[in-house]
Amino acid sequence: MLCVVTESISSLRDRAEQVLPPATWDFVAAGAGRESTVTGNEAAWDRWWLRPRTMVDVGTVDTATTVLGGPVATPVLLAPAGRQRALHPDGEVAVAAAAGAAGTVYCLATSATTDLHDLAGLPGRRWLQLYVSEDREQTRRVVENAAAAGYERIVLTLDRPVEGNRPRSRRHGTLGPLPPGAAVTTHLGDGSTRAHVPSRWDRSLTWADLDWLTALGLPLTVKGVLRADDAVRAAGHGADSIVVSNHGGRQLDGTVPTAVALPEVAAAVDVPVLVDGGIRTGGAVFRALALGADAVLVGRPYLWGLAAAGEAGVRAVLDTLTAELRDTMTLAGCPTIADITADLLTPATC
Ligand SMILES: Cc1cc2nc3c(=O)[nH]c(=O)nc-3n(C[C@H](O)[C@H](O)[C@H](O)COP(=O)(O)O)c2cc1C
Repeated sequence: MLCVVTESISSLRDRAEQVLPPATWDFVAAGAGRESTVTGNEAAWDRWWLRPRTMVDVGTVDTATTVLGGPVATPVLLAPAGRQRALHPDGEVAVAAAAGAAGTVYCLATSATTDLHDLAGLPGRRWLQLYVSEDREQTRRVVENAAAAGYERIVLTLDRPVEGNRPRSRRHGTLGPLPPGAAVTTHLGDGSTRAHVPSRWDRSLTWADLDWLTALGLPLTVKGVLRADDAVRAAGHGADSIVVSNHGGRQLDGTVPTAVALPEVAAAVDVPVLVDGGIRTGGAVFRALALGADAVLVGRPYLWGLAAAGEAGVRAVLDTLTAELRDTMTLAGCPTIADITADLLTPATC
């Protein structure tokens, strides 16, 4: 039976735009420059037509799979995004709770407004996104804290040596102060916070630094790879998985859409590959898996859900994308995630 989903992602987006102060809405929506990569990311998934299989037993269709060593009920994961208590008072706690209930992974951001320890009691799988501080000792302590608190891995973001130029973010001034009581944490577990300014992280990082990071003891994913040669280098320096990403078009405008970069990266390495950027439908999730991804991450859609309705809104986004994926699998003749293969796609020529 096909699923009917009542809360569409676009209605949550509209509600988020209504309830958020303009500067906060712009913080979420913003892309770099003319935002051509933001729009390109979304459009590029539709540049692949589907070639469904017929006469396949789809009496049971299962979206469950294994991602980076653990089970998930859906291959739709939640990407790291900073400052979630600017969107809703429950912020990262609501997001983690929704991800746990939906049986998927939440990747907490370095620039979170909830300390990593404060999610430790909640059910669900969690990863920690990392920016490396110029103070390496501080970064080492954050990674050790994450390991002790049950975070499975570090997701090192490669594509933000500096913050991208986002004109939209300046339309209403900067994001402004966070709500009372909210602050960007250091994740040091001592209540310390960071100043609410576009932070500076270590811009001198090179591939050799991955060797130092992997020696800290947690498995390492790198996020922000768009080229086969970078993927090969990352795997050669100990990354056990790769996220094809352009930071949702927030860093370098004109960067290749992830649906275009994904096949090149997936073909170049043996390690698992994930992807994010512009994924707004279960059909796009299906295309990403067919192009070689083990799973996808979404950013803005769940932030819209969070702003619109807290934990329930995040859960609605996950449920909608998963239901749409299940419908696409049913109609394309794919009872399991493993059945989603490259022959199900053809490039659009018209
Ligand atoms: C408001 C916002 C904040 C973000 N903050 C971070 C961050 O702190 N670290 C990071 O690696 N990526 C960050 N990202 C990028 C996301 O992890 C992800 O790559 C991107 O949102 C995916 O594209 P999508 O929004 O089109 O789904 C952020 C994205 C948004 C929209």
